[in-house]
Amino acid sequence: RWAAAAGPRRVLLASPRSFCAGVERAIEIVERALDRFGAPVYVRKQIVHNIHVVRDLERRGAVFVDDLAEVPEGAVTVFSAHGVAPAVREEAGRRGLRVVDATCPLVAKVHAEARRFAARGDLVVLIGHAGHEEVEGVLGEVPGAGVLVEDEAGVADAAQNVPWGRGVAYLTQTTLAADEAGRVAAAIRRRFPDAEGPRGDDICYATTNRQHAVRAVAAQADLVLVVGSANSSNALRLTEVAARQAPLARLIDDPGDIALDWLRGARTVGLTAGASTPGAMVDAVVAALGGLGPLEVEERRVTEENVEFTLPKEVRP
Ligand code: F3S
Repeated sequence: RWAAAAGPRRVLLASPRSFCAGVERAIEIVERALDRFGAPVYVRKQIVHNIHVVRDLERRGAVFVDDLAEVPEGAVTVFSAHGVAPAVREEAGRRGLRVVDATCPLVAKVHAEARRFAARGDLVVLIGHAGHEEVEGVLGEVPGAGVLVEDEAGVADAAQNVPWGRGVAYLTQTTLAADEAGRVAAAIRRRFPDAEGPRGDDICYATTNRQHAVRAVAAQADLVLVVGSANSSNALRLTEVAARQAPLARLIDDPGDIALDWLRGARTVGLTAGASTPGAMVDAVVAALGGLGPLEVEERRVTEENVEFTLPKEVRP
């Protein structure tokens, strides 16, 4: 009688979820480079922050390196979706590497904005997370003219170092939580009323849509599972956004990471995936949950996506 009252477990699938256009393009660039030039193809840093994507491309002949110094002279080298600083491009040029650039066009746009602000003498304040490759790339565009701010407290610290009269402009990393980034941007505008920023922010469409979608399922879920790797900025932010609404939210790489005690009492499970996570990993999680008992799967779509980017000329058909 108890089991009948409980009924099947419900899975609410957030949509959109999983690959964005920038990640699809970056993976396709490595695949096409392997087809056209043959293995090995070197990739500077993880092409996208997902362990399954990286392992799969490794099996097909991609070699991931942390530093260009590890790449033999003249070899085909892909720059990851997160972008690189100009100094990295220069080093590749000096070493005669054959570069194919998989920087997401929406990250490249933030680089261009940073250059424009710095060229007119502004201090460029970047809202983002220390150590992330995207942040290193953007700040590398404006040596001596950029500063990273991670939170509202960081704004006051940054302000101490701005000489009187100097213009201030700000930008954001593409994969931040929209609400937090908005608070930091507001603190910057309070401190520097003339600061120019992007219209809204630089958070990309995919990050924004995935956060809206996870919020819609988290409000009704006992547990939210976010499929993605721990170094993926957008997957981490999805987990934080979900945790603000659901009793429990966990980031998992695949079904193997699910702890059974999270599921105790969890009748409704919200499920999503970061922009660098393959859809197949979400299917695997649904299959694993189905193995534990009857399941009802419902998709909650908050918006449609139809963004596509063109490939760089080196790998265009
Ligand atoms: Fe680009 Fe946003 Fe994806 S910046 S790589 S579209 S998460």
